[in-house]
Amino acid sequence: MPSPATRLSSYPPLNVQVHTPRLSLLGATDELLERLVPTVRRGVATAPPWPFDDPMSLYKDSPEREWSWLRAVWAGRGRVTDSFWRLYFVVVVDGEPVGMQDLVGTDFASFGTVHTFSWLDPDLRGRGLGKEMRQAVLQLAFDGIGARYAGSDAFFDNHASNRVSQALGYERNGNDWDTRRGEPAEIHRWRLTREQWSKNRRDDIELVGVAECLPVLGIHPSA
Ligand SMILES: CC(C)(COP(=O)(O)OP(=O)(O)OC[C@H]1O[C@@H](n2cnc3c(N)ncnc32)[C@H](O)[C@@H]1OP(=O)(O)O)[C@@H](O)C(=O)NCCC(=O)NCCS
Repeated sequence: MPSPATRLSSYPPLNVQVHTPRLSLLGATDELLERLVPTVRRGVATAPPWPFDDPMSLYKDSPEREWSWLRAVWAGRGRVTDSFWRLYFVVVVDGEPVGMQDLVGTDFASFGTVHTFSWLDPDLRGRGLGKEMRQAVLQLAFDGIGARYAGSDAFFDNHASNRVSQALGYERNGNDWDTRRGEPAEIHRWRLTREQWSKNRRDDIELVGVAECLPVLGIHPSA
């Protein structure tokens, strides 16, 4: 009998997986979210410079933080239309959930553009996992889903996120403003074209369960 981790869901987005030599992105099932709760309870953003724009569950005090974070993922998983969807992935390293890597499509049919969002256990940052997570989700976006552009935004002083974008070939796409914990701060916007991504395309990343997921997102490649 398959273990709970390998049992297939009847909802295809939860079966999508991306495997790299260092980590896996697994569709965020409730079982995986539960295993990630202790990390959320310990804190994901605990000191400036604050990385997330408002509103953000992860800025709240525990236990409201965990409750609010779970509600946000549940609500986001349930909000799927042709013009907006968000795939939530738990990042797993050596069998342990260590963060999240999401892929967001907005008017994907018209623009072929996706955005990414991520966070990693603070104890595991600065070891190249952030870059590996982004490469994994970009492989899914461009190779699996057929994206034409990937965007990423980060506050000007979020050096790790900005550096991941720069290192992976994104180009600056202007500035914007947003608030974090109520205070305005400048955002750096980045954009990666399919062509630029292809130059650094990796051949050691495996995609699982993508074809079955596409119709759920309103994507019909053969149409
Ligand atoms: C963003 C995040 C996922 C990146 O993961 P990470 O594992 O820390 O990043 P990596 O170790 O892969 O580093 C990627 C690059 O950033 C650089 N970097 C990492 N931390 C840095 C820091 N504090 N200052 C400057 N550069 C940094 C690395 O040197 C590397 O650059 P290189 O490719 O030139 O060597 C992680 O830092 C995180 O969870 N941050 C908080 C949440 C967040 O900011 N999410 C994004 C919101 S937009």
